[in-house]
Amino acid sequence: MEQESDDTGKFYITTPAYYPNDVAHLGHAYTTIAADIIARWNRLCGKDVMFISGLDEHGSKIESSARAKNMSPQKFVDLMAEKFKSTWETLDISLDGFIRTSEDRHVKAVADIFNRINNSGDIYKGEYEGWYCTPCETYWTETQLMDGKCPECGRPVEMLKQESYFFKLSNYQKKLLNLYETNPDFISPESRKSEIINRVREGLRDLSISRTNVKWGIPVPIDKKSTLYVWLDALTFYLSVLGYPDKKYTNYWPADVHLMAKEILWFHAVIWPAMLMSAGLDLPKKVFAHGWLTVNGEKMSKSKGNFIIPEEVVKKYSVDAFRYYLIRDIPFGGEGDYSEHALVARINGELVSDIGNLAYRVLTLAERFDGAIKGKAELDKSLNLAKIKKHMEAFELHLALEEILVFVRACNKYINDNKVWALKGDCMASALYNLLESLRIIAVLISPFMPSTSEKLNEQLGVKRGLLKDCKFGAWKGKAKKGAMLFKKIG
Ligand code: MSP
Repeated sequence: MEQESDDTGKFYITTPAYYPNDVAHLGHAYTTIAADIIARWNRLCGKDVMFISGLDEHGSKIESSARAKNMSPQKFVDLMAEKFKSTWETLDISLDGFIRTSEDRHVKAVADIFNRINNSGDIYKGEYEGWYCTPCETYWTETQLMDGKCPECGRPVEMLKQESYFFKLSNYQKKLLNLYETNPDFISPESRKSEIINRVREGLRDLSISRTNVKWGIPVPIDKKSTLYVWLDALTFYLSVLGYPDKKYTNYWPADVHLMAKEILWFHAVIWPAMLMSAGLDLPKKVFAHGWLTVNGEKMSKSKGNFIIPEEVVKKYSVDAFRYYLIRDIPFGGEGDYSEHALVARINGELVSDIGNLAYRVLTLAERFDGAIKGKAELDKSLNLAKIKKHMEAFELHLALEEILVFVRACNKYINDNKVWALKGDCMASALYNLLESLRIIAVLISPFMPSTSEKLNEQLGVKRGLLKDCKFGAWKGKAKKGAMLFKKIG
């Protein structure tokens, strides 16, 4: 009861706008599942949640992927967008909004942001210089080159210049440093903060925001021969998806958190707030970057043949097992490794033996018992809801799951210690009361992580879907009816 007033209000959470030059892979799924879990948790807390994702469809990479398939860029992204959306449906991602940067509503929002930044005097015309790969039609920076050659095709590159519009990022060094100082949680987790702040302290170069050689993109509003390049276009999707520039965007803006992996933290922690300051708009409250996933210790790549397609994994195991494993096995915020072996170990261990087994044992006993189920709460002492809540608020998703498991294990221990299977009459009624109420609460707590398992459990318990405020022991109101095992042992 005490904290319920904290839990109302809105919560806006985002994933990056992914490049649809190929289908969604494990890395995209990881961020999106984590964001989904945080969104679902906040809904459980009673908040008005807006959870969005989208696609970053412009640029030369998409143009060349489309060309390789003999398609127009628009046709190609239309096709890829359907594939991304279907992946999110398969993974039970509860999106409230989705936008593609080739949509009109996005193009309008970008023009508005550009004009605002231009009116602030932060845009000027200059020359962009970089290493150009003619076959790939792409500019690379010195650090992106591989042995001095194009990192994409390995062919030689040449130093070229072209006209470009620039954003005066250099104007924002002081303001950004002030932002980091006055909002110490703006860049999260803590471990990723100092690198960004040190780079900003070293000085900021103005940012090239247009190209003359890229056709597939949004024209610069004041010069239709030039195309806006990448970040000004892409970052604006966090606003356009809310209907910006229509005032209704303020129903959810500013974002409570932008979630991503570390390689794009710079753009979110430095360039995005600087653009918003220039445009005179509110800043997001937090940018949170997790680490990179490897597969069996190696970088994931198509050429290595270790490209993990989420649909293939969930067909073999299950959506909930995949979601659970990713969040339970990898400390959220740090680096992580994916392996099928570790996934199977989590299924056979915690999902089958701890959670599945608890439900099966309790429901078997409950079905056999025909008295009224009531008693005194005893297992409530093993549930530390405040700790789970604290971990979820700090995005320590793996620790929140661990704490939920502490409760699950306490329930299994209660069965063993009290030899519940041998109890009779009032003693059995009271033990079942404790165990069924615990299972009802467990179904609520696991619902953000494993939504369909939670639903199955509710069904077997004969209870309605609960919220966080229902996670306390009350009178047992369900009607237990055992169904199939929640998880099956593999191998
Ligand atoms: N289009 C830009 C983002 C613009 S946001 C305004 C982009 N797209 S991307 O398709 O490359 O997606 C990058 C994001 O995908 C990462 O930040 C992360 O969320 C996710 N991941 C892609 N590969 C990943 C791993 N190997 N490991 C973990 N996450 C990864 O960058």
